[in-house]
Amino acid sequence: MSSTLFRTKKIEQSIQDTEEPEHQLKKSLSALELTVFGVGVIIGTGIFVLTGTVAKDNAGPSTALAFVVAGVVCALAALCYAEFASSIPVAGSAYTFSYASLGELPAWIIGWDLVLEFALGTAVVAVGWAGYIRSFLENAGLTLPESLGSRDGADGFGFDILAAALVLVLTGILVLGMKLSARVTSVVVAIKVAVVLVVIIAGAFFVKSSNYDPFIPKSKPVDAGSSLDSPLVQLMFGWAPANFGVMGIFTAASVVFFAFIGFDVVATAAEETKNPQRDMPRGIIGSLIICTLLYVAVSIVVTGMQNYTQLSVDAPLADAFKATGHPFFSGVISFGAAVGLTTVCLILLLGQTRVFFAMSRDGLLPRFFSRVHPRFRTPYRPTILLGVIIAIVAGFTSLSELAELVNIGTLFAFVVVAIGVIILRRTRPDLPRAFRTPLVPWLPILSVAASLWLMLNLPAETWVRFAVWMVIGFALYFFYGRTHSRLARGELEEGVSPTGQKP
Ligand code: ALA
Repeated sequence: MSSTLFRTKKIEQSIQDTEEPEHQLKKSLSALELTVFGVGVIIGTGIFVLTGTVAKDNAGPSTALAFVVAGVVCALAALCYAEFASSIPVAGSAYTFSYASLGELPAWIIGWDLVLEFALGTAVVAVGWAGYIRSFLENAGLTLPESLGSRDGADGFGFDILAAALVLVLTGILVLGMKLSARVTSVVVAIKVAVVLVVIIAGAFFVKSSNYDPFIPKSKPVDAGSSLDSPLVQLMFGWAPANFGVMGIFTAASVVFFAFIGFDVVATAAEETKNPQRDMPRGIIGSLIICTLLYVAVSIVVTGMQNYTQLSVDAPLADAFKATGHPFFSGVISFGAAVGLTTVCLILLLGQTRVFFAMSRDGLLPRFFSRVHPRFRTPYRPTILLGVIIAIVAGFTSLSELAELVNIGTLFAFVVVAIGVIILRRTRPDLPRAFRTPLVPWLPILSVAASLWLMLNLPAETWVRFAVWMVIGFALYFFYGRTHSRLARGELEEGVSPTGQKP
C-alpha cells in the first residue's frame, strides 16, 4: 500500500497533459507580466494593515527587522520554487511538483493545504477590502444596513455583502480569461506601488528620530490568557510568552509573513507563460525583491512617523499621516489600499482555481472540473464553484485570526517544495532545469528549517486548526482520491518513486 501512496506522476506525462486541446490553457504571459502579477498579489493586507498591529503588539520599530526575517525565509523558498517552476511548467504549483517528486499522497496533502493559502487568503483579503470600502462609504454619508455591513448584525445575522460581491466580480473576470485579468492587474499594481512610494517618500519628511528609541523595545511578558494563544515554540520549550525583545521580532515575522504570500502564486501560472524556463525564475524572484525593499522602507518610515504604541490597527499607513496632520495623503493611501487589495484577491483566487484544475485533471478531484471553456480557454467550472464558496465564506465568517492559518498552510507548502527539490535532483538528475537552486541540498535544508521556525512561532491554536484541516484532507483522499486517481487506474504514466524505484 505504501508504494501506491507514494507513486509519482511522470514529469513528461504532466507536461504532455497540458498539451491536450480540451484541457489546454492559453500561453500568454511574459516575464514582465509575471512580475506585475507577483507584485499585484504580494502587496496587500500585510503591509497596509498588519504592519500596525505587529508594531504595536510584537516588535515596535524593529518590525522592519521582522520583514527582513520573513523576506529571507521567502527568498530561500523562492529559490526552490524557481527551480521547479522552470523545470515543470505545469499549472498547480506545489501540488504538481509534489506529485512528480514525492508521490500521490504528499501531493494530495499539499493540494489540500494550498486551499488554506489561496481560498482562505482570498476570503481574508476580501474582508479587509470591505472594511476599507465601508469606511469610504461612511465618510460619504452612506451606511449599509447592519446585517449587510458586517458579520455581526444586530439580530445575530450578518453577511458582509461587499466582501462577497468582490469575490463574485473577480470570479467573472477570471472566467473571461487571463489576458483580461493581467490587464486589470497592471493598472491596479501601478496605483498600488505609487501609493506605497508616496508613503515612503512623503512619510520620510515626518519621521522623528525619537520614535526609534528604543529600536527593539524591551521584552514584555504577556498575559497568557489561554496558553493556546502563545507561540508553539514558547510552549514547547517552557518559555514564558513574551512580546517585543528579540523573540518578538520572530513572532512578528511569522505574522508579517502574510505580506509576502503570493510570490509562489506566480508559479501557478507557469503553464500560461510563453517562455517558462526563462521567465518563471525572473518573475518569482523579481517580484519578491521589489516587495521586500518596499516593506522594509515602509515599516521604517511608519514607525518613525508615529510612536509604535500609537499606531492604528485598522489603517496604520493612512492614519499615521492623519496623526501628523496630513489628511490629504491619508485619503490617497486609503484609496490605493482599497484598489490594491482587489488584485491580491484576484490572483489568490486564480491560484486556487489552477490547483483545483490540476488536481481534477489528475482524477484526485472529479474530472468534470478539468474541462476548459471552449471559447475563453479558462478552467471556468472550478472557478465558478470556488468563487461562490469563497464568497459565502468571506460573507459569513470573521477571519482575522484565520490569517495565521493562511500562514501556516503556506509555510508547510514551502517545506514540502524544498524537500521535493532535493528528492527530484536524486530521482531525475537528467531533467532539464533552466534554473537550478544553488547549493543543493544545503539551501533547501536551510529553507525547510527557516519555514519550520516561523511555523513554530505561530500560536498553538493555529496548529490545532491546521491539524484538524489536515485530518479532513486525509479522510477525503482515502475516500475518493486514492481510487479515482488516473495514475491508480493506469491512465497516466508513473515516474520514479521518492526512494528511487522505477515502476
Ligand atoms: N501578501 C498578500 C497580502 O499581504 C496576501 O495581502
